[in-house]
Amino acid sequence: MPKVLVLPGDGIGVEVTNVSIDILNIIGERHNIDFEFDTELFGGASIDEHGVPITDEVIAKAKASDAVLMGAVGGPKWENLPHENKPESGLLALRKELDAFANLRPAVVYPALADASTLKREVVEGVDIMVVRELTGGIYFGQPRGIEKLEDGQERGFNTLAYTTSEIERIARVAFDIAKKRKKRLTSIDKANVLEVKQFWRTTVTRIQETEYPDIELEHLYVDNAVMQLIRRPKTFDVILAGNMFGDIISDEAAQLTGSLGMLPSASIGEGAIYEPVHGSAPDIAGQNMANPIAMVLTSAMMLKYSLNLDQAAREIEEAVERVLEKGFRTADIYHEGMTKLGCKEMGEEMAREIKNHKEAPLL
Ligand code: IPM
Ligand code: MG
Repeated sequence: MPKVLVLPGDGIGVEVTNVSIDILNIIGERHNIDFEFDTELFGGASIDEHGVPITDEVIAKAKASDAVLMGAVGGPKWENLPHENKPESGLLALRKELDAFANLRPAVVYPALADASTLKREVVEGVDIMVVRELTGGIYFGQPRGIEKLEDGQERGFNTLAYTTSEIERIARVAFDIAKKRKKRLTSIDKANVLEVKQFWRTTVTRIQETEYPDIELEHLYVDNAVMQLIRRPKTFDVILAGNMFGDIISDEAAQLTGSLGMLPSASIGEGAIYEPVHGSAPDIAGQNMANPIAMVLTSAMMLKYSLNLDQAAREIEEAVERVLEKGFRTADIYHEGMTKLGCKEMGEEMAREIKNHKEAPLL
């Protein structure tokens, strides 16, 4: 009985999580999986109730679960809190506590959505990229950090960007292993021309390739060039490896290739595992039944695949997503003329219908 800690979080996180739980329950019935869902407050919702973005109890529950499924955190209500009390700090604490160092963010352009991208169809058609982002190190966690008062009356804000050999090696191996099962190409992103830590990143990744993965083609790009190449020749990318901050940036860009941030799932894997869509809490559309639940539903499919070894069930969800898109169902973010515009809940119902219909197919 898989134990899943559900953290809907804030804003649209709640709506899209509801949809994905419905879908998982249907999948559970089909495959005889008795999911044990335990739902807890997280982010702003937890701040309002407990004064902290994540409680120790919730962290303990996360550690005791097979997987954590989360929606999104944050919103204007909490953005002026001190850094350590912000909803985002709760997410970072959860990632760190579970040592979920490898963040996998697949960006796939569905044929039915090639026109939803802001780039030309011929540029994005067939794009299939896996961004592997280091998630528990780098500038997000480096010490020292803070805002200090200087003697001359000014203030000074500072953060530290550092990576150790083992931190780079373990994330590089995850990326190379994934590349092995794909097109065997890896692009590592850095800023080795300016930063020592990124020079070290580059030499370490190169050494791992030479000694352990000689059959993988390795390309290094400076981050400024990489963000440009990604919109210029997105189809030539297979696996992208990046540190925490560059990975954060490049995964939003990769998302836009697919038409919308509302399409991108992610898995954060290590000691524990957190499944989180790439999008945020979208306070501007929260509570209006407008959010796109696809990223979250695909995120739950990643959970089935990576934490619960239920590849077939994951595939059924992915296929249901493909079919609703082919039928022309769209949420507002990916809508264009001639398509059928649906709310978050209704989009969920269409996906559920596809999964159920699929059930009958083998019986015919
Ligand atoms: C993401 C988000 C988070 C991050 C925020 C909400 C802390 O942007 O998952 O990409 O920067 O990692
Ligand atoms: Mg981000």
